[in-house]
Amino acid sequence: MKPVCLALASTALALVPAAALADTVVLTADAMVDVERGEIVADPVVTIIDGIITDVATGEAPQIDGADYIDLAGKTILPGLIDMHVHLTSDSDLHGYKRLSVSDEAATITGVVNAKTTLMAGFTTVRNVGAGSFGDVALRDAINEGDIPGPRMLVSGPPIGITGGHCSDNNLLPPEYEASGENVADGPWAARSAVRKNRKYGVDLIKTCSTGGVLSKGTKVGAPQYTVEELTALTEEAHSHGLKVASHAHGSEGIVNALKAGVDTVEHASFIDDEGIRLAKESGAYLSMDIYVTEFILGEGEAAGILPESLEKERLVGQTQRDNFRKAHDAGVKMVMGTDAGVYPHGDNARQLSRMVQFGMTSAEAVRAATLNAADALGLSGTVGIIAPQASADIVAVDGNPLADISTLETVTFVMKRGEVFKSE
Ligand code: ARG
Repeated sequence: MKPVCLALASTALALVPAAALADTVVLTADAMVDVERGEIVADPVVTIIDGIITDVATGEAPQIDGADYIDLAGKTILPGLIDMHVHLTSDSDLHGYKRLSVSDEAATITGVVNAKTTLMAGFTTVRNVGAGSFGDVALRDAINEGDIPGPRMLVSGPPIGITGGHCSDNNLLPPEYEASGENVADGPWAARSAVRKNRKYGVDLIKTCSTGGVLSKGTKVGAPQYTVEELTALTEEAHSHGLKVASHAHGSEGIVNALKAGVDTVEHASFIDDEGIRLAKESGAYLSMDIYVTEFILGEGEAAGILPESLEKERLVGQTQRDNFRKAHDAGVKMVMGTDAGVYPHGDNARQLSRMVQFGMTSAEAVRAATLNAADALGLSGTVGIIAPQASADIVAVDGNPLADISTLETVTFVMKRGEVFKSE
């Protein structure tokens, strides 16, 4: 350890949530997953300066004056994982009518806890696709300021959807409550206006819904929501501000509508058909298929308050989505890993990776979906999802070889984000 760290500690401690390290850190381990090639590399040596990777080599660690050395003997390192579909402000034991008891303020505080849990599970970047009252913007900013531990967040703010739709609206209460969700927007101009409002309050992307959903009351998973005209207006508006669009879509028609409108990612994509597959390949859109969560919904969902009609819908969706995951992957559609954590417990995000392997991916492809591909879909290629010069030093470690056994990623023992160590077991 460089002695200056201790001298700094008294003045800088309040600002630095994790162990303070020297400006230069040399990290070594037994092995590294080269995510691009899908291969294991022995004896990696990663040099980091001010949280940015400056060199990746193998063999002996260089002697650098004043550097700190971290030796992860016996461990395999890989880029910090990325989950493209989370709801950090949601709790998995509060569904259906139970969720009505939670204010947006309380949900944001829950998000503080969930952000830490997610980071400790090895997810150094997440895309948060839906939160009330811009609680996700506040969380993102507090994490970036170093006030609370958590993953780097890209956030959507309140999703934009139709009256009575899966996004935004609240169909739980009878008409006399006149309960309408935040950002309900009908018509192309209303949709544009909602995009502008979200941008004004600091979102990184736009989330919309082009079909009904499983967990919303009174919506049909197969039924489209929004016309192509509305979706096109929303997407054009978002893109004109440099914001990507994620569209929730289960039914095949709504998937096609979203792809025709030019969205960047399709969430769930459960009933994707040949036309949807063709359009996704043509446009280069990514699918983010949450194929683990069905196990939680059908196993523990009822106790958590999930409505009987939602359990019924899940029985229609779950297995078909898994079959179509295989089909779309075989057809060469680009895939990212998105889990819908928040519907199920935060921190269990990585459980989906083994299902992605079970339903057709190699382990290397599943790792890529949660690193390289996710980074590309976020517009952050080269910055996250890779251990390479110029990337942020977002590095996790596991015991064992994730390419031989993907489930090793469920137990991450070391977490570094932008050069700061948040977990070291
Ligand atoms: N948030 C999604 C919805 O309500 C969850 C879908 C979960 N089911 C699934 N098989 N992926 O529609």
